[in-house]
Amino acid sequence: MCGIVGIISKHDVVEKIVSGLEMLEYRGYDSAGVAVIDQDGVIDRVRAVGKLQNLKSALNDQPIKGFIGIGHTRWATHGKATVANSHPILSKTVCVVHNGIIENCKELKFELQKDGYQFLTDTDTEVVAHLLQQQLDRGKSPREAFRYMLATVSGTYAFAVLFESSPHTLFVARRRSPLVLGFGEDICVASDTTALSGLSQEVIYLDDNEYAEISLSSVEIFNGNYELIKKDKVPIPESTIHTGKGGYDYYMLKEIMEQGSTLRHTMQHLSIPDNLFDDVSRILILACGTSYYAGMTARYWFEEYLHIPTDVEIASEYRYRKAIVQPNTLVVVITQSGETIDTLEALDYVRSNYNCRVLAISNVKNSAVSRMADYILYTDTGTEVGVASTKTFTAQLAVLASMAVHNNEFLLRELRNMPLLIEEVLSMQAQIKSLASSIVDVNSVLFLGRSSLYPIALEGALKLKEVSYIHAEGFAAGEIKHGPIALIDDTVPVICLCPYDSMFEKMSSNIQVALARGKRMLILTDAEGATRLPGEITKLIVPSVHPVFSALLYVVPLQMLAYYTALMRGNDVDKPRNLAKSVTVE
Ligand code: M6R
Repeated sequence: MCGIVGIISKHDVVEKIVSGLEMLEYRGYDSAGVAVIDQDGVIDRVRAVGKLQNLKSALNDQPIKGFIGIGHTRWATHGKATVANSHPILSKTVCVVHNGIIENCKELKFELQKDGYQFLTDTDTEVVAHLLQQQLDRGKSPREAFRYMLATVSGTYAFAVLFESSPHTLFVARRRSPLVLGFGEDICVASDTTALSGLSQEVIYLDDNEYAEISLSSVEIFNGNYELIKKDKVPIPESTIHTGKGGYDYYMLKEIMEQGSTLRHTMQHLSIPDNLFDDVSRILILACGTSYYAGMTARYWFEEYLHIPTDVEIASEYRYRKAIVQPNTLVVVITQSGETIDTLEALDYVRSNYNCRVLAISNVKNSAVSRMADYILYTDTGTEVGVASTKTFTAQLAVLASMAVHNNEFLLRELRNMPLLIEEVLSMQAQIKSLASSIVDVNSVLFLGRSSLYPIALEGALKLKEVSYIHAEGFAAGEIKHGPIALIDDTVPVICLCPYDSMFEKMSSNIQVALARGKRMLILTDAEGATRLPGEITKLIVPSVHPVFSALLYVVPLQMLAYYTALMRGNDVDKPRNLAKSVTVE
């Protein structure tokens, strides 16, 4: 979370920093700020609470200029979203932007306060600014101060720092939070390459514990022992250059509507490594959020078609358990961003304690996970800007399904047919929009599914709560009688995923049980299922699909339902409250 940008140029950098922040706003939008060193060699900064638009207005009222500057878009960890807590954070002659968490900030604050440094924010980052200033006040150079600070703080960070006493050099560092250097007419640094498109043609990805001193005339990169190292520039990946909303009001709708083509593209470019499953006697899937639900769905496929026992674990829990990984386990890590700290830490736990092969599935080229895995498979969807994952989820499912049925020509053909079926569902937009109007005012919605549609019920509920802020829960339909049925009354819509497949009869009984307690029900089914379900219930009839891949199809109307419900409630669908797309704090 939080996006950072830094630019050094022969021209004013403020507008470019703000454009970069615009591309990073998905990482957090509690507040934003920019700081430059002006022509008098003094740090000037402007900050504003809320979305970037507010910063733009503040910059109009109070313009600043400089050839070197840093910017930040914040997802609050320490301290509320106030101007005082907005980055860049200043200490006399030093200014810092930070993504991550300084874990020893309390101890450092105590020491710095004893030394006379006055704290004006509730942020953890302020200790970094004062620590640097303290070292300068003790006669150290910016380089010495920066190295001292890196050696003193613990936790996670991507930093960009301006020193008035070194007005042509930007100091940057990373540990567990992403940071990339960009090279073009200007020298840039950013949390990810999307912020650099249009500015840089080539990039260098910093690795953990590396830091750099950057000026227009030189870029020096150091490893964790402060030894100068050489890293090669690589062309900026094309998939990170995103082309706007394409005529849609929100990225989320654009990304939902793209799913036919993103799925085709992903499958065309996919190459499952030879012998991937040789000697594999167990699969362990690690992921969070929507990616975790993709993993849950894959378990059904892996066990049925690969005949390999599969465990799926919530990454944030897994690393704090003394989990045991069996010999010959293939670890599959699913992360859209490739940067989710919980997932990376869980992977790190496995890597540090066990010897096993790791396959990662990610949408972001060169993300951190790609450097930690033995194999990487990309969901080739292009950048997903909407905070709620949509097209990357179906692409993850396509990758996982391809892995599961890679030896089954018939099922592979069925899978390749999925984009067409999804496009049929996408054409039902108007119908789905009208269903959204029936849930727009409710307080709570339940989603029920069985088998591989159980994770889709969970994902449907997650989508709805993320963007509409309506309370929603997904359940395995057979489980509701064990407790959740108490939630059902006439006010609570129950959305059931019920294709005509081997679970149909069981699902129909669950529907009857729910219907006996409440009256608001929506059933997603196919033509055959519709003829066998009670006539009076509202139904959305989707194309019939091979039962193995129904998850890929049934999630799409749920994404749309969430989108339209949120829209009708007047929410900012692409930037739902409190969320960020890339979750780089634990
Ligand atoms: O980038 P990742 O796939 O690792 O992200 C995991 C979750 O944070 C993510 O799926 C989150 O749940 C999304 N907001 C879902 O829409």
